Amino acid sequence: MENTAPVRKKRVLSLIQPTSVPTIGNYFGALKNWKNMSEEYDCIYGVADLHALTVHPEPALLRKQSQEMFALMLAIGLDPEKSIVFFQSHVHTHSELAWILNCYTQYGEASRMTQFKDKSQKHADNVNVGLFDYPVLMAADILIYQADFVPVGADQKQHLELARDIADRFNTRHGSTFTLPEPFIGKVGAKIASLQDPTQKMSKSDTNPRASVSLLDPPDAIVKKFKSAVTDSEACVRYAEGKDGINNLMSIYSCCTGKGFDEIEKEFDGKGYGDFKLAVAQAVVDEFKPVQEEYAKLINDKAYLNECAKKGAEAALKLTYRTLSKVQKKVGLYQL
Ligand code: TYM
Repeated sequence: MENTAPVRKKRVLSLIQPTSVPTIGNYFGALKNWKNMSEEYDCIYGVADLHALTVHPEPALLRKQSQEMFALMLAIGLDPEKSIVFFQSHVHTHSELAWILNCYTQYGEASRMTQFKDKSQKHADNVNVGLFDYPVLMAADILIYQADFVPVGADQKQHLELARDIADRFNTRHGSTFTLPEPFIGKVGAKIASLQDPTQKMSKSDTNPRASVSLLDPPDAIVKKFKSAVTDSEACVRYAEGKDGINNLMSIYSCCTGKGFDEIEKEFDGKGYGDFKLAVAQAVVDEFKPVQEEYAKLINDKAYLNECAKKGAEAALKLTYRTLSKVQKKVGLYQL
């Protein structure tokens, strides 16, 4: 007999912390891929507001930034009718699974996470258990949806590997339970560097305002920041080792225009860095213009945002109950 069961589309999941307006790093490393993948896959995207608590944000600011992040996610083109778009804290099942997964995570492997090591060094006065447990909650975010692909920047690769290890350990002990997620890391844009120190990752929390460009920066600010980007003294637009500043600008330009590095080198052959920086800035301005326009409309429509968030949370809860109850049963929790 012919098998008429509907084939499940591959599932994509990713979250972003609402700690400030996303940078072009977040955008090209993750958000743009979120949007592109939402055409082909079943997608689930969230505001990681629980993860943000690890840095003790001011409560009113966290609430505001979470709403802004949600509006931005819709503004980049995520369609709440097609994808599940939600706040992590509205879906309590993530935290419940995280507790169980804690018991399947070794202290040693969590201690090896480079982000934990970096952050504990930078903020030695606040090395809380949440910071340590951060990757386990992230594993729960992913595994509870049985996600196939997780679009992230290169900095999240190690966390993804940990999520796979936890899933594999659980599956080995209790039989097939979790899908092993694959990271989806774009070829270009997975690690956008700081404009002021191109050997470092561009980060939302950089204290130098010229180091990062945010998705909501006005065009003149974007141009100014690119004009002051650190490059080198060769004055030749080519992608090569040791030219971190130019390599970074070429990656950003490539993400905006879809052009390859060879094509970009030809386009700017004989031209100086001044022209190139302006072209990159203009490409970014053009890329962000429709997002900024849409955001301006959405951010004042709180009723609509709340309606979308409620719908997202309901759909997410429904999906996650399936995995959570399976896991609770497998580990031996008493069922009613
Ligand atoms: P977060 O909020 O730090 O960053 C969101 C996304 O942006 C990517 N990213 C970058 N990509 C390229 N260049 C950069 N300079 C750059 N900076 C950041 C990040 O890799 C990420 O994809 N732990 C996550 C949030 C999270 C999550 C999850 C992600 C929570 N649960 C489940 C995936 C699946 C984080 O802090 O991302």
